[in-house]
Amino acid sequence: MSNIKLETKYTNIDNKKIMMLADRVEEIHNELHKNASKKDEFLGWLTLPEKYDKKEFEKIKKAAEKIREDSKVLVVIGIGGSYLGARAVIESLTHTFYNSLPDEQRNSPQILYVGNNISGTYLNDLVDLIGNRDLSVNVISKSGTTTEPAIAFRFFREFLENKYGVKEARKRIYVTTDKTKGALKTLAKKEKYTTFVIPNNIGGRYSVLTAVGLLPIAVAGINIDKLMDGAMFAYEKYNEPNLKYNDCYKYAVLRNLLYQDFKDIEILVTYEPKLHYLIEWWKQLFGESEGKDNKGIYPVGAEFTTDLHSLGQYIQQGKRDLFETVINIQKQEANVKIHLDEDNLDELNYLEGKTMDYVNSKAMEATVAAHVDGGVPNIIINITKLDEETIGHLIYFFELACAMSGKILGVNPFNQPGVEKYKTNMFKLLGKPGYEE
Ligand code: PA5
Repeated sequence: MSNIKLETKYTNIDNKKIMMLADRVEEIHNELHKNASKKDEFLGWLTLPEKYDKKEFEKIKKAAEKIREDSKVLVVIGIGGSYLGARAVIESLTHTFYNSLPDEQRNSPQILYVGNNISGTYLNDLVDLIGNRDLSVNVISKSGTTTEPAIAFRFFREFLENKYGVKEARKRIYVTTDKTKGALKTLAKKEKYTTFVIPNNIGGRYSVLTAVGLLPIAVAGINIDKLMDGAMFAYEKYNEPNLKYNDCYKYAVLRNLLYQDFKDIEILVTYEPKLHYLIEWWKQLFGESEGKDNKGIYPVGAEFTTDLHSLGQYIQQGKRDLFETVINIQKQEANVKIHLDEDNLDELNYLEGKTMDYVNSKAMEATVAAHVDGGVPNIIINITKLDEETIGHLIYFFELACAMSGKILGVNPFNQPGVEKYKTNMFKLLGKPGYEE
């Protein structure tokens, strides 16, 4: 099983200082595990790798197989926690240009996302892209009432019914929602759509390892058994109350110590473009969990070396309220070598025989050193390689670290009261009944 290792030496925080929070960490750990099975604590994700619904899991695999057989495109409708996790895993583990590959090379349906914005142009363009090809739709919404996915689903229901007729359309619609309540549940029941359940003790941003993420992930041809194995490995590894032996909790503690030292912004950095959406998922996880009560670290992302040519100047010499967390993939698959050129006009011959991944790793070492020198502490998360087990592990690592970090900070990491404010304003402006005042 591939592993994850935390490197703390570039943070300027010594072990003694970290261990001062050991008692608090142990207390929170015990509290989380004690409450794990309580319905209204939103802790279902904590024991999910062990306790997930095996019957539902098999149903997901079956549905994925059917979609892979009868569809060239899977349209995934969802937003926030009902969208980012699936995309994060799919993009981390498939070909960089997955959706653009010719069908015979990809060998799986294209996965297209909608309902994560309200742009009519985006939707029109997506329809152009789908063209006449066969498709299925997976609409994902825990509440079943979120405006963005609801609008997109209304559109695609009509689209499917026009294309296939009502009866066949029903067989191509997969609904992932609450077990008993919500508008989507009511509709799914009436139309007899195949449905999957979002457990009610798991909040959106902690739900990627439920049907929310697993159905689209399986349709993309990713081995979801291995993904869950990775999460299970992490669950066992981090079920360790002693901070000394728990890298996941150390990450949570370090974030809080840096925050106390006025480091208000955390940049999650990758040197691998495939992790772009993993960072987007992480941003939601930490931003929505911690940003409340006028507190919290502001989570942002950066892709290096790309962003070293745009954000690099600021990180090196701008306001010193930043720290970076770098995901370092130790073993890269590609083996692209730099060849000798007789003229050497580009002066690259000193790199002859070296791989691009080697150069990338040196870029990372150089950047960490430069930023640390410039007053930006760095936490390094070393991951062995990019595969299903590692991504499952990493998801669980971040979820648990987020819960621990939020608790240390003194906020409730499982609610998101602030998200309602824009919705209320928007409904009022749109004249939704009941929102006049
Ligand atoms: O984490 C969350 O709770 C949110 O990001 C939700 O996932 C998002 O607002 C979508 O909600 P729903 O799944 O109810 O449509």
